[in-house]
Amino acid sequence: MRKRVSLTRSAATGTLVLALCLFATISLAQVPKPAANVGQGNSASGRDWWKNAVIYEVYPRSFQDTNGDGIGDLNGIISRLDYLQSLGVDAIWLTPIYPSPNYDFGYDVSDYLNVNPEYGTLADFDRLMSEANKRHIRVIMDMVMNHTSSEHPWFIASRTSRDNPYRNWYVWRDGKGVTATDKGRPPNNWGGFGRSAWEWDEKTRQYFYHRYSVQQPDLNWNNPAVKQAFKNILGFWLKRGVAGYRFDAIGDLFEDPSFQDEALAKDKDGKPIVDARGNPVLERTKRFDLPASHAVMGEIHAYVHGFDNAAFPGSRLLIGETLTRSVDELAKWYGTPTQPEFDLPMNTQVGFINKLDVSTFRKRLLDAESAIGNHVPLLVFDNHDRPRLDRYGDGVHDVAIQRALATVLFASGGATLMYYGDEIGMKTTPPTRREDVKDRMGGVANWPAIRGRDGERTPMQWDSSSNAGFTTGSPWLPVPPSASEINVKTEEHDPDSLLAWYRSLIKLKKSNPALALGSSVMLDTSNNNVLSWSRQTPGAQTVVVSVNFTSAPQTVNLRDEVGPRAGSVRTLLKSPGGSDPASLDRIELGPFGVFIGEIP
Ligand code: NOJ
Ligand code: CA
Repeated sequence: MRKRVSLTRSAATGTLVLALCLFATISLAQVPKPAANVGQGNSASGRDWWKNAVIYEVYPRSFQDTNGDGIGDLNGIISRLDYLQSLGVDAIWLTPIYPSPNYDFGYDVSDYLNVNPEYGTLADFDRLMSEANKRHIRVIMDMVMNHTSSEHPWFIASRTSRDNPYRNWYVWRDGKGVTATDKGRPPNNWGGFGRSAWEWDEKTRQYFYHRYSVQQPDLNWNNPAVKQAFKNILGFWLKRGVAGYRFDAIGDLFEDPSFQDEALAKDKDGKPIVDARGNPVLERTKRFDLPASHAVMGEIHAYVHGFDNAAFPGSRLLIGETLTRSVDELAKWYGTPTQPEFDLPMNTQVGFINKLDVSTFRKRLLDAESAIGNHVPLLVFDNHDRPRLDRYGDGVHDVAIQRALATVLFASGGATLMYYGDEIGMKTTPPTRREDVKDRMGGVANWPAIRGRDGERTPMQWDSSSNAGFTTGSPWLPVPPSASEINVKTEEHDPDSLLAWYRSLIKLKKSNPALALGSSVMLDTSNNNVLSWSRQTPGAQTVVVSVNFTSAPQTVNLRDEVGPRAGSVRTLLKSPGGSDPASLDRIELGPFGVFIGEIP
């Protein structure tokens, strides 16, 4: 049985066409050390540069320290741009670098128009922009519009009195049963993790709403002044040359003006759902994905895409942290032809299956393409909020498993987002003692049920020295012991390393027409051990990909499905030690082995 997904990409960029003309067959053995210009497949003015882009998430605090305070900084990112260029990334997304009291490490912004002094200055930022631009790497900023820090001057003013001009910038409501001496109860049952999302403010005797921590009060997006303020903020950084934004927690922007209670969430048998700590889980129909959020994103899309900056030409990119429960909900975030919203809302449906289950991957990959019409998917497997890719590991074949996952990520078409350290196989290393937790927002409050997000935010492992080349000081989070073996320097000298695999895969993604622009056809769909698909585009050779999802050797025959031309196949990339099949009749795969080939 053969399932086709039709993906009509708009025309390739001029530079991609150039890259394709230069296209040469690559096999792992033949992959040369990446040339210095890898990643230049997209010129600075390429309109559609992001449609086949590799976007690399940098967690600035943990990437590279240069002044010895143990905290990564902008100068550190600048010093590693050559590395990023050699990896072949098109853009870096910086998680928030704005001044912040760091209750949520930058997701609690206290000034949107500056750089956190821990990370550097605006002058450093401008230098980062120009150095990245020289290397054809675009910079995407994080934009936190749902909430500010409780220390932002807007909120400080807002809570001074009920008639302060900033009062209406946040979501203030009367409580229930409040008297002169009693704070009563919150306005409704909204909350999570067994706590209310409303905080009593004694001075003005009202409650304010905070979807996240008390230190992150929600802005009131029904107030037009809030929208205007964010347009100014977006323009401030666009003027400095940023290529776009990743919008944080976008589904949370608006609250239902009725402020009615949420119903209890129920499972398919009608039983109330409880969280890990036994607290009831609520529906989120009154405070998530409301139509008004879509309208605002439509307006922001037009504003950002219409922003003229001749010094940094090329189309802008809006990425959405959409966190939808289904791909159909995700599809809505692309907007309509007359009112586009996000260019790339994040698809987490595939990457966060969290189990190597072939049929689920096959279905979700199909859905990822077919449910979004002609739009481009953005697959996301990993980020600073969830355990790293080692969550898929079995403790024995972890590197091979990460090779397999990277193949699904980069050889499925569309845009891809990767997280710093994935390319070397960094391990999630959470703190073991409560007193060591730095992630107050995600950790301490819920300890030990949840150990926070420190484990996936540890310093980048550059070499095998004591602090992994991250800092000469004392790192803000400990460097995992695994850094002695898992690090860039060691892996750079090993042609069979995970880093070498990422480089080869990214290079292939950027240069092979079928991978870059084609559509996917799932193959061998009754096979529950091996995920196979082809990539096809008119005028280019078909590419087949097979990924063994098991620890046992597997053999697949794709010949009947791919058709009469499939008599022979040429290896483009294969796992270390893998064989080169002469035809599609017999592709042999070792444990979690991968084969990518081209039909001549
Ligand atoms: C999503 C971010 O990725 C996460 O780190 C943060 O805590 C929340 N949004 C709140 O801003
Ligand atoms: Ca520093």
